[in-house]
Amino acid sequence: MGKGLLTGKRGIIFGALDESSIAWQVALRAKEEGATFTLTNTPVALRFGKVKELGDLCGASVIAADATSEEELKLLFEQSVEALGGKLDFVLHSIGMSMNIRKKRDYTNLNYSFYQKTMDISATSFHKILQTAYHLDAINEWGSVVALSYIAAQRVFPGYNDMADAKAALESIARNFGYYYGKKCKVRVNTVSQSPTPSTAGSSVNGFDHFYDYAHQLSPLGNASAASCADFCVLLFSDYMRMVTMQNLYHDGGFSMVGTSTQSR
Ligand SMILES: NC(=O)c1ccc[n+]([C@@H]2O[C@H](COP(=O)([O-])OP(=O)(O)OC[C@H]3O[C@@H](n4cnc5c(N)ncnc54)[C@H](O)[C@@H]3O)[C@@H](O)[C@H]2O)c1
Repeated sequence: MGKGLLTGKRGIIFGALDESSIAWQVALRAKEEGATFTLTNTPVALRFGKVKELGDLCGASVIAADATSEEELKLLFEQSVEALGGKLDFVLHSIGMSMNIRKKRDYTNLNYSFYQKTMDISATSFHKILQTAYHLDAINEWGSVVALSYIAAQRVFPGYNDMADAKAALESIARNFGYYYGKKCKVRVNTVSQSPTPSTAGSSVNGFDHFYDYAHQLSPLGNASAASCADFCVLLFSDYMRMVTMQNLYHDGGFSMVGTSTQSR
């Protein structure tokens, strides 16, 4: 199915843990389209996940980095540029984690040290990644940086908890950094607001099955899968989306535009 959309392009893909990860599917599609890239995740995720297996499948080096650590991000960018033989053309931020969700603290009873972690891992890390790349001048002109978001940034989905605040911040970072990076060297920065997707992070959200079924019923096209999200991310990395930046793009089968539906699927 590959059409060479990313031939000659180099990148970094954050957040593949196992086959259910959206980033896993993006890596497979990016490889199919001719890209070379490094894969990265936290040391713990590298121990317990299957990232090395994905590295073998894609011929990609795997480099450990905690996306909240500026030092580790700097090393990651430097090592990636060296391993890939030049500056980068795309970066995927596919990272999210909430201890409040994990520990079943609801939104009216948050633990604030967990909250800070949620924001740092799920939103500020995006700024840190962009700022690191910006100061190292690690991304080529017309490069593309994409982060994954969810519609709870705009509307209330009880159970999505403090991740809703993190996604609102993530989308704001895309808009604001997109301005500066576009001015400096035409690097594009966008978020993709994806349908509920059965993955480790997705399934950990309280009431995930309800979110999933509700969105699937309401969306005229049904929920978008991780594989179709990967197609969209690859398109955003490609030269066909050169003039799209600072946007939050819904990839949700139409869910975000529907008020109510008379049909059940
Ligand atoms: N699954 C869904 O329903 C859904 C819907 C919309 C958006 N998203 C977003 O998609 C992205 C990917 O999630 P997923 O559904 O593929 O789940 P996932 O659990 O497979 O991916 C989350 C990744 O974040 C990584 N991570 C956590 N802390 C980190 C840190 N400090 N540094 C670096 N990496 C860290 C994890 O190791 C994991 O690989 C997330 O931003 C998520 O919020 C998911």
